[in-house]
Amino acid sequence: MRIRPMRPEDVDAVERLTALAYPADRTGDHRRRWREQAAHLLGTDPGGCWVADEAGGAGPVAGVAISLRRDLLWILSSYAVHPGHQGRGIGTALLQAAVGYGAGCLRGMLTSLPDHQALRRYRRAGFTLYPTMRLTGVVDRSALPAVDGVRLGTAADFDLVDSVDRRVRGATHRPDNAHVLGYSTLLVCDLLTGTGYACVAPWGVTRLAATNRAVAQRLLWAALARSAPGSAVDVRNLTSDQEWAIDVGLAAGLRIDQDSYLALRHMRPPAPYVPSTGFG
Ligand SMILES: CC(C)(COP(=O)(O)OP(=O)(O)OC[C@H]1O[C@@H](n2cnc3c(N)ncnc32)[C@H](O)[C@@H]1OP(=O)(O)O)[C@@H](O)C(=O)NCCC(=O)NCCS
Repeated sequence: MRIRPMRPEDVDAVERLTALAYPADRTGDHRRRWREQAAHLLGTDPGGCWVADEAGGAGPVAGVAISLRRDLLWILSSYAVHPGHQGRGIGTALLQAAVGYGAGCLRGMLTSLPDHQALRRYRRAGFTLYPTMRLTGVVDRSALPAVDGVRLGTAADFDLVDSVDRRVRGATHRPDNAHVLGYSTLLVCDLLTGTGYACVAPWGVTRLAATNRAVAQRLLWAALARSAPGSAVDVRNLTSDQEWAIDVGLAAGLRIDQDSYLALRHMRPPAPYVPSTGFG
């Protein structure tokens, strides 16, 4: 098996491979979005995207690691080995190649699935594992407070998003913001007391950062208010540092469940922050 840089023509095979290796089922829409995200990251970070295949390209893609660098933060976005090829050192070699792309980055971040082999790899690569919670359910609309100071954002707000990201997690999402707005809405709160933003997709809040908890709670309420009445929402990757979010979720009638892990290297969980699953 050889480890080689991923190419655009690998995107379909990599999507199918990860759909096999990850436990959750993917709908057609989710599959398309997954391919678009992989193609986007291959465009922004070709040096961070690696696949494993038979030497000479004879066989199908057997494994993948997709990573990105944002300022001095290294992020692992996807990582999987075909179930038929696991336990033979391929995952270790792929992670080594992806981690190599982060050489010179001070810090690292990833959201893990609850897969014991993956957790073993991350801990052995020096990551600290933080258990996470998830909020799910249908928002109790009678609990929604009147929230002012939150408005819809556009690309003109990307500088604001960058400055909040730098302050809260030490690195921007600049190359990813336009891509993310292709399937989600940006909410912005810019007050004298603090600033923040949230990315809201049809299925839930996919990222939120603010300079203080009060602004973060306003944004989360505004995001929950945008959910379609009767349809379920999802807020993931919440370590116990995000009690501001847990409290809003409980007040909105959502339930708390165990999610998985946030894995960090040389940093503490950013807060108030809802990490993005694919972009850290
Ligand atoms: C996590 C995952 C990518 C790991 O890939 P893998 O190829 O199974 O991992 P490896 O084979 O490299 O590692 C397993 C062990 O086998 C060892 N190993 C077995 N044969 C080996 C060989 N020929 N050469 C080197 N190491 C070998 C590894 O050293 C490692 O042992 P260690 O943990 O004591 O260091 C894979 O299990 C997977 O796809 N899981 C499901 C999807 C998932 O959860 N992905 C993570 C999403 S966040």
